[in-house]
Amino acid sequence: MRLPKPKKTTLSQSDYAYNYLTKKLKFQYLSSGAFASVYGKKDHKRVFKIGHIDDNYLEYVKLVGLRNKNPHLPTIYSVKLFKYEHDWGTETYYVIEMERLLPFDKVGRRKGLKEHKRYQQQLGIVYIQDMEDPMRSMKPSTRHGKQLQKVLDKALDEGSPDMHSGNIMWRKHGKSYQLVVTDPVA
Ligand SMILES: Nc1ncnc2c1ncn2[C@@H]1O[C@H](COP(=O)(O)OP(=O)(O)O)[C@@H](O)[C@H]1O
Ligand SMILES: [Mg+2]
Repeated sequence: MRLPKPKKTTLSQSDYAYNYLTKKLKFQYLSSGAFASVYGKKDHKRVFKIGHIDDNYLEYVKLVGLRNKNPHLPTIYSVKLFKYEHDWGTETYYVIEMERLLPFDKVGRRKGLKEHKRYQQQLGIVYIQDMEDPMRSMKPSTRHGKQLQKVLDKALDEGSPDMHSGNIMWRKHGKSYQLVVTDPVA
């Protein structure tokens, strides 16, 4: 997908997060990484992720596109870019609406390991949490796994691998879980 042009706004990134997402929409802060923060609401299936554009993440977003059907890729519903003029210069940030996923470590150890084994077989990813670059060793056997590998290969052209357990999440799917790669490059 092509990214939209940044729109001028009267809200800085922090105002958007605190005033608009939390006060107006009543979303709560859930978590953040090095670049972005994520806001969610109880019983709401979608979250907002907000962050600075100078991060390779948007390259991944372009590759994933909107409403991708591959279960290993996050479902993204909308991407907005905003431009705010501070006294000191322009701040450009993104707001992405995407499906809410579960943290990798949140799925109980035993259950997680069981799912993990299945993904070892399907994707050939071994010991995700301790590997520096699990993508290089991927040997996917499924169609979706192969497609994931292609997307990750392209994403890696733009940045360096960052596939630690904070950047891989689970999607609850009936009684089982699907492994979703949310933020593979830095
Ligand atoms: N779709 C999501 N649903 C729920 N939490 C999320 C989602 N995406 C990310 N998070 C949480 O927010 C944190 C930061 O998001 P991430 O995509 O890793 O951004 P970055 O590392 O660039 O700041 C993640 O570690 C994860 O815990
Ligand atoms: Mg991250």
